[in-house]
Amino acid sequence: MLRHETKEITDLVLKAAKKARKETDSEPEPELTKPIKWPVKCTVGPGLEGAIACETKIGYVNGSKGWLVYRGYDIFDLCAYSTFEEVSYLLLKGHLPTVTQLGNFKKKLIQYRHMPNTQRLLMSFPIEDMNAMAALRLGTNLMRHEFTYDDTDDWRPDLKSVIGADEDSIPMETVPRGEKRAIYEFGSKERGKKFESDSLGLQPASGLDSCYHLIAGVASIAAAVARIRAGHLPLEPDPELSHAANFIYMMTGRRPAPLEERVMDIALILHADHGINASTFASMVVASTLSDFYFSVGAGIAALNGPLHGGANEQVLRVLNEIATVDNVKPWLEKIRKQKGKIMGFGHRVYKAYDPRARVLGPLAEYLAKNSESGLKLLHIAQALEREVASSFGTEKKIFPNVDFYSGIVYSCMGISPELFTPIFAVSRVAGWTARVLEYLENNRIFRPRAMYIGEFEKKYKPIQKRT
Ligand code: CMC
Repeated sequence: MLRHETKEITDLVLKAAKKARKETDSEPEPELTKPIKWPVKCTVGPGLEGAIACETKIGYVNGSKGWLVYRGYDIFDLCAYSTFEEVSYLLLKGHLPTVTQLGNFKKKLIQYRHMPNTQRLLMSFPIEDMNAMAALRLGTNLMRHEFTYDDTDDWRPDLKSVIGADEDSIPMETVPRGEKRAIYEFGSKERGKKFESDSLGLQPASGLDSCYHLIAGVASIAAAVARIRAGHLPLEPDPELSHAANFIYMMTGRRPAPLEERVMDIALILHADHGINASTFASMVVASTLSDFYFSVGAGIAALNGPLHGGANEQVLRVLNEIATVDNVKPWLEKIRKQKGKIMGFGHRVYKAYDPRARVLGPLAEYLAKNSESGLKLLHIAQALEREVASSFGTEKKIFPNVDFYSGIVYSCMGISPELFTPIFAVSRVAGWTARVLEYLENNRIFRPRAMYIGEFEKKYKPIQKRT
């Protein structure tokens, strides 16, 4: 149904795919697509550039060709034909689901979107004054707190009795800005249940159910953070809606039109996984200590926040607003180049070709901006900046727009405010974080690189009084 109603979007994705396939060829890199015989020889640059950390079957990024594959499926096909729910299942389980498997997976997500206790705890913090990513990270900590067996040891206080017996109508102590009454209806019927141990035999907080819980819950928390920051109370999820539509609904209070839902769904698919990027690596490092999924995802959120990573999408919008006019693009770029500054939304450690995700998001931004005056203005500046970067850097540096360059314009055209762009990235990437952690734990070895010591030796200790 959704696909039929949004055929124009499918056509746009397929057109981008055709262009990409024409401009790149599809040979995998032999040195990066074969089983490893440890220890492996590789040339490592600063920031672990070129280092091989593990084997994976989850996803593959061919940086020189500019293509991206999840579990063998091309990203363009997934955007054209799949959904975020299906892609999350694919990343976690390794194959596309049958109708029954997808139905069961969706039921889990619907169940885990309900987090009354977590939301209640979240609302007792000054979310409206916090960085949205910090609030999201706090939310995942609270999810862990509520849902892990680890935290219910006998010696701990009974949290449920501390919180209160009647959860269906709890007067809040903290009134979000703009609300007259501080009453939030906490439904109790579909509350998340305690997890069962899974086939890996891991602790519940480290099992597959935690992955489902986090994929569902990070979206609910991001939406709650958006609501509280805008001076509203969080909303209950709507079990009739898809993950993308429910996320928009819980964020805005409005059930989205098919077009809006489809665009969000594609954005979530595009951001779901991307090799051992900084936030995925951060999640894996935490998991490798046999910490759990909640701490791992918290580390992922923290790493994603930086402007060199997921935080770039918010910065891009700031930059486009700062440039302000198409005529100012050239002088602005000259100034940045003189200062040897980085242009947000450009460049990539792996891609030395056009980022396939930007190949979809660029045309999506163009499509949506047709109906938004402010969006169109931003788009024209962005397109002029892209042309100017291409001509001023030339081809030798291979600096192209990355996923973060056009995503902000897409979200802006959907009426989403910039501080939520990076949380949306996390709502999607949690699928990749959890899938990668789950896979890594099957053959876990704690991460422990070394540094080259270039400091001094044999210095004599001086008492503080004798130091100058
Ligand atoms: N603007 C200007 N110059 C750039 C840029 C840029 N955005 N990106 C790379 N370069 C230059 C850089 O100055 C360096 O030049 P030189 O060799 O003369 O010193 C060369 O290209 C190699 O760059 P690098 O910084 O060594 O590359 P890296 O692999 O360490 O960093 C990066 C990759 C993404 C952090 C970087 O390209 C960057 O800072 N981009 C801007 C921030 C951004 O858009 N981040 C989002 C990345 S994609 C989505 C995600 O992962 O979240």
